[in-house]
This record gives sequence, structure tokens and C-alpha cells, in this order.
Amino acid sequence: MVEQPVSANIVRAKGRVSPEQRAANLGHKSATVWFTGLSGSGKSTLAFAVEEALIRNGIAAYVLDGDNVRFGLNRDLGFAPEDRTENIRRIGEVCRLFQDAGVVVLTAFISPYLADRKQVRDLHPDGSFVEVFVNTPIEVCEARDVKGLYAKARAGEIPEFSGVSAPYEAPVSAEISVDTTKPLRDCVKQIVQALELASA
Ligand code: ADX
Repeated sequence: MVEQPVSANIVRAKGRVSPEQRAANLGHKSATVWFTGLSGSGKSTLAFAVEEALIRNGIAAYVLDGDNVRFGLNRDLGFAPEDRTENIRRIGEVCRLFQDAGVVVLTAFISPYLADRKQVRDLHPDGSFVEVFVNTPIEVCEARDVKGLYAKARAGEIPEFSGVSAPYEAPVSAEISVDTTKPLRDCVKQIVQALELASA
């Protein structure tokens, strides 16, 4: 893993605005809310619903969604293990920038590897990374098959599909675990309450 810039002639620049000033300005602390789960588990639906609830509460929130990011920033990446690791590494860095800006960033990526999620967690100050396990069993994801991808994966048309022909390593100590068989509004309430963002 490359931890230093390629060039030795890079020096960090320091801004004049403190994290406390930003939090006072916005009226809340920043956080990274990291949704993880299988394709079709409901990560995006939940993240967008939580984003809406936070915005209604006057909190600056923004969703980074796996499919969407793969149209732009990460369009050069596929689904081999090293590509997924790079996908999550880049998103972790983007989350760090959002946090620096004082924003609450919500992410919806399968992020199937424990080690990759831990690496992102370790980039964050203590308590500011909140992992949300969207704990929907594969049978349910497959029955929903909103994008028709499970059918294609079972037919052998999509190689390395998470849960079918590629691994998904479930969290062992996520801050929040969501049962998506419950109504969406209950799941959103559970997450928003657990975040305690207004107490900056
Ligand atoms: S991750 O594993 O690298 O975190 P990411 O969340 O960015 O994945 O993208 C997952 C989305 O890409 C899925 O929701 C699905 O729509 C699509 N997709 C296409 N091919 C695959 C695949 N082989 N495995 C999983 N998802 C895939």
C-alpha cells in the first residue's frame, strides 16, 4: 500500500479554519456514515432516505453511491478484488475531504472486504466513522433482484458477483445493524437517532 505521495517534493498546506469553527458555522459535527451490504440489500435506498431526513433537520449531508461513483471518479475500476480495494480506498479519501469540510457524508458501497472497511475507519478521528450493516440476507436480495443482476450472475453472465461468485465479509462490530424487513421509516429513524449529530 502506498502511503506517501510518489514525489518527495510534496508539502502539506494548512488552512486557517478549524474543525470547531466549521462545526459552529454549520451547527453540527461531521461524520462518515458507511453503509455496507450486498447488492440489492437496500444501501442506496436507506442512504438517500437518511440524507433527506438529515437535510430536513438542517444538517449538511451528501450521499456517495457505488453505482454513481463508478460512472465518474471510479469509472476505470471493475470488480476484481484489487479494483474493489482501490474503489473503497478512494472513497475513504473522499470521505475524509467531506469530513474536513464539515459535511456528513453517507456512502453506499458493497465494500465486501473487512480489511478495506477497517482501512477507511482508521483514516477517521475516533467516533466519526459509523458503520451501518444493511443486514439483508442474500435470499431476500436475490428475490428482490431490482436490477436483474442476480439472475445474470446465476446464469454465469456476471463474473465475481458479490455473494454469488465473490465474497462478502459481514461486519463483526458495526455501530448500527439494520433489519430491512422493517418499514423504511423505522430504519431511517433508528439510524438518525443513533447518529446524534445535533449535539455538536
Ligand atoms: S464494491 O464491491 O466495489 O464496493 P460497488 O458498491 O462500488 O461495489 O458497486 C456495486 C454495484 O455494481 C452493484 O450494486 C451492482 O449494481 C453493480 N455490479 C456490477 N457488477 C458487479 C459485481 N460483479 N459484483 C457486485 N456488484 C456489481
